[in-house]
Amino acid sequence: MLKILVIHGPNLLLLGKRETHIYGDMTLDDINRDLLKKADELGCSLDIIQRDDEGSIVSLIGVAQADGLLINPAAYTHTSVAIADAILSMAKPAVEVHLSNIYKRESWRHHSYVAPVVTGQISGLGADGYILGLEFLIKTLSSQERPT
Ligand code: DQA
Repeated sequence: MLKILVIHGPNLLLLGKRETHIYGDMTLDDINRDLLKKADELGCSLDIIQRDDEGSIVSLIGVAQADGLLINPAAYTHTSVAIADAILSMAKPAVEVHLSNIYKRESWRHHSYVAPVVTGQISGLGADGYILGLEFLIKTLSSQERPT
């Protein structure tokens, strides 16, 4: 069974209370519940983790035994060479998700250190971005698994 590591970065535990005009009303538990439901439908398993500190995120990616990565690096998107390097080392299909459209916001949010090292980025589709990212990863990984 394919396994996807899902990482939620700093302050995402506050979803539902935090700047709801930007991030919406869904809590992180709501998002995770929908992801687990979708994983069930797709027949894959998920390891879902939220961390506020950069070092833990780097370490988790470093030891990951997963086939793919779905990550919202949150504020570390715009600062973390270390997380980008960890994703490079993992060398698996990876999708970067942002609830908000980072390109419509402050200019310092327009740069992502993660974008050049992931398969692709979804930005601005709210919680649907996580579901679409998961569907993409399973589709991609399943086609890689198919014997040629
Ligand atoms: C975010 C966008 C980031 O700029 C911000 O720091 C976050 C959340 C998003 O999901 O839209 O914490 O990654």
